[in-house]
Amino acid sequence: MPTGLVIYYSRSGNTKQMAEVISSSMTEAGLSTSCKDVEGVNVDDLLAADAIVIGSPTYYGHMASQIGKMMDDSVSKHGKLDGKVGAAFSSSANIGGGNETTVLSIINALLIHGMVIQGDPQGDHYGPVSIGKPDDRVVSQCQRRGQRIAKLTLSLFK
Ligand SMILES: Cc1cc2nc3c(=O)[nH]c(=O)nc-3n(C[C@H](O)[C@H](O)[C@H](O)COP(=O)(O)O)c2cc1C
Repeated sequence: MPTGLVIYYSRSGNTKQMAEVISSSMTEAGLSTSCKDVEGVNVDDLLAADAIVIGSPTYYGHMASQIGKMMDDSVSKHGKLDGKVGAAFSSSANIGGGNETTVLSIINALLIHGMVIQGDPQGDHYGPVSIGKPDDRVVSQCQRRGQRIAKLTLSLFK
């Protein structure tokens, strides 16, 4: 049975809240998914999941160093994540504060791993983004993204 893994770093809880909504929505949509703080992730965990979703606060328009370290460590699995589904999300303090560049910085790394990334023509195009604490709009975007990730993953991994 296909599985998902949502990985996040969060200092003040905003990204964590997004991660939990995405993870629950993936599971509700039929893709058994676990949600882990990056500090508790071993890169071997990446091999077990068919969909890997990564969230980070926006730090200077980029992923936090804790997420960057995991990506660097993932070089030991280079080539083994090819074809898995990937997605990203971010929380920032400000509109125009770099949350979309943060999402793209994560997606950039996932593409180098050969992962399959789906955009969204209606919702947050690159991945869910929040300004501060997630509001109803953000929760809805996280639910939508979780459902879309599950649908894509279940279609690729039967
Ligand atoms: C080191 C550092 C750098 C940050 N850089 C930005 C930034 O470039 N743009 C922005 O809008 N917010 C920035 N922030 C604010 C965080 O992205 C924002 O508070 C976010 O919601 C925190 O997420 P968390 O609650 O998951 O830790 C920064 C915060 C820190 C601590």
